[in-house]
Amino acid sequence: MNEERYVRESRTFKASHVLPPDTNNHNTLFGGRLMAHIDDVAALSAMKHAREPVVTASTDSVDFLQPVKVDNEVSLEAFVTWTHNTSMEVFVKIVAEDLRTGERAVCATSFLTFVAIGPDGKPTQVPKVIPETEEEQFLHQGAPERAEARKARRFRNKQLADLLGTRRPWESPTQKPGPIVGPLS
Ligand SMILES: CC(C)(COP(=O)(O)OP(=O)(O)OC[C@H]1O[C@@H](n2cnc3c(N)ncnc32)[C@H](O)[C@@H]1OP(=O)(O)O)[C@@H](O)C(=O)NCCC(=O)NCCS
Repeated sequence: MNEERYVRESRTFKASHVLPPDTNNHNTLFGGRLMAHIDDVAALSAMKHAREPVVTASTDSVDFLQPVKVDNEVSLEAFVTWTHNTSMEVFVKIVAEDLRTGERAVCATSFLTFVAIGPDGKPTQVPKVIPETEEEQFLHQGAPERAEARKARRFRNKQLADLLGTRRPWESPTQKPGPIVGPLS
């Protein structure tokens, strides 16, 4: 594929008013809710770049730098920073705004990797991405190193999964995994 798209073509924004059902016992945005927002906006961005369905292959660490308080706005900005063959790196910046004072803070950032899926259900090639601004170029240049680190992490996690297996703690090592058969089944 020789197609290319500008980073700006995948820029996606999402804003929400943080209300009590979104918060934890500290009256700040629940971390799991923020991670769902991150995955959602990043997937939209990846689809705008690939123009194909995508799946999340991985999410790098999310550091919650500042709490997002109830009644604040939380806004997320996502864009594709780099592509390889079938995968895309998406950067997400999360900003909290105090709606009374207008004061803003970057409360988290995250990198995610998405893979485009073709009609046959298999990973399919994506267009290359062209960075234009200083910020886009900075993130683009650092991407191959981050991709290498992910590759090594994926390998280690696969080894760990193989080592741990699927046996439940109460199952004997000789028992084959299968449906639980009991009086109610
Ligand atoms: C991600 C997935 C499609 C990869 O498929 P696969 O058959 O293992 O394919 P490959 O090993 O050839 O990897 C395909 C691409 O994904 C990338 N990739 C796979 N796992 C990755 C990971 N954990 N982190 C970053 N990139 C990853 C590979 O580097 C490769 O990129 P490239 O083509 O640009 O070089 C597959 O593992 C999958 O479906 N996982 C579950 C996804 C999911 O359920 N997500 C949550 C809901 S959307």
